[in-house]
Amino acid sequence: MNPALTQIGAQMSKLTGVRAIMKDIIETLRAGAGQQFINLSAGNPLILPEVEQLWRDCTAQLLASPEYGEVVCRYGSSQGYTPLVEAIANDFNKRYGLNLSERNILITPGSQTLYFYAVNSFGGYTPSGELKQIVLPLSPDYTGYGGICLVPKALIAYKPTLDIDEAAHRFKYRPDFSQLSITEDTGCVLFSRPCNPTGNVLTDDEVKKIAALAAPYNLPVLIDSAYAPPFPALNFTEMTPVFGDNILHCMSLSKAGLPGERVGIAIGDEKWIEVLECFQANIGLHSSRYGQAIAALAINSGALVEISHTVIRPFYQNKFSVLETSLEQAMPKDLPWFLHRGEGAIFAWLWLEDLPISDWEFYQQLKQVGVIIVPGSTFFPGLEEEWAHKHQCFRISLTGTDEEIATAMQRLAKVAEEAYKGAAVTA
Ligand SMILES: Cc1ncc(COP(=O)(O)O)c(C=O)c1O
Repeated sequence: MNPALTQIGAQMSKLTGVRAIMKDIIETLRAGAGQQFINLSAGNPLILPEVEQLWRDCTAQLLASPEYGEVVCRYGSSQGYTPLVEAIANDFNKRYGLNLSERNILITPGSQTLYFYAVNSFGGYTPSGELKQIVLPLSPDYTGYGGICLVPKALIAYKPTLDIDEAAHRFKYRPDFSQLSITEDTGCVLFSRPCNPTGNVLTDDEVKKIAALAAPYNLPVLIDSAYAPPFPALNFTEMTPVFGDNILHCMSLSKAGLPGERVGIAIGDEKWIEVLECFQANIGLHSSRYGQAIAALAINSGALVEISHTVIRPFYQNKFSVLETSLEQAMPKDLPWFLHRGEGAIFAWLWLEDLPISDWEFYQQLKQVGVIIVPGSTFFPGLEEEWAHKHQCFRISLTGTDEEIATAMQRLAKVAEEAYKGAAVTA
């Protein structure tokens, strides 16, 4: 018998977005025992030996230090482990000419949790019953934003404009400022930069324009910088982190090799940091301190920034080139396929314009030939309106070997060719 649940219980116990698809993928892998799949669905970064070694070295340093007991045998402050908070303030002040004090920084157990605190503090119903919206200015965006709002109807996403280069089979999303509406009904604004799933990087000007639209309403603009510089620096195009009075700069150490330790970082005005810190104190007291302690060592020594630029970024940038080249070689020139410009993150985003079958059907057909990618329709949280484009896109993870990526793109090209002809490909 199903347990009796509250409204919040019912909502939070449902898997949303890509996590619902992951269940299907895990079942496929289990049922297909013996069948070799090229699985390019994962959002999980690969273990890069140099990165693993960095965290191993920092752990050895922590174990040998008198601080060890203080880190793991004691509770700490809800704001975060002081040496990490100080390391971030010092690093960012030097690097970006800021004037941060420790009151501007909060450490959370992963950045997903940080977004949960933020969207439910600033979006949803006010004490007087008004609904404050959580605005995603450019859809598609991170699927995880779909599961974090306790008032789901508060989440509103805006369709982008498409900048298409027909001849090159490339495209890029841009915010549609003629539609984007930030008003007194908005509670906060949220977007990822670089973007999961598309690899898009909003330009500095676009970010400043969004922040300026929000400024008159004194609401925070959360910039999800899980892939941004200075670490993990998974930007393949020039970008500068944008700071400002109404910006909450949000980071994660997950793509810098530490997803298991759950370290998220918020940087911003202390009036917002304080709200989020209290939310955190109520929910879980504070983040685990082991991950924070080794992060402090890696930031203070400069090793984390160094390894991000010399190992993490080139690794995924090269994977994107392999994917791009393989698609160019395999895809028929006369098909309307468009790869999103690879500006960052660990994914490629493919749009098959006017695809005669849905993204879900295409995903199923691709599984038949041993390739798993993610149907794109799960990456439009908050965009309720029907839009054919939502069912014509796919996220391809850059987490395979070069050979796997090349083979997968050849098989994908074949399935696409057949799909446009109107026939299904069989294994
Ligand atoms: C854009 C983006 N934001 C946030 C997260 C959540 O990361 P974490 O909670 O591990 O910091 C992810 C994870 O894949 C992501 O891609």
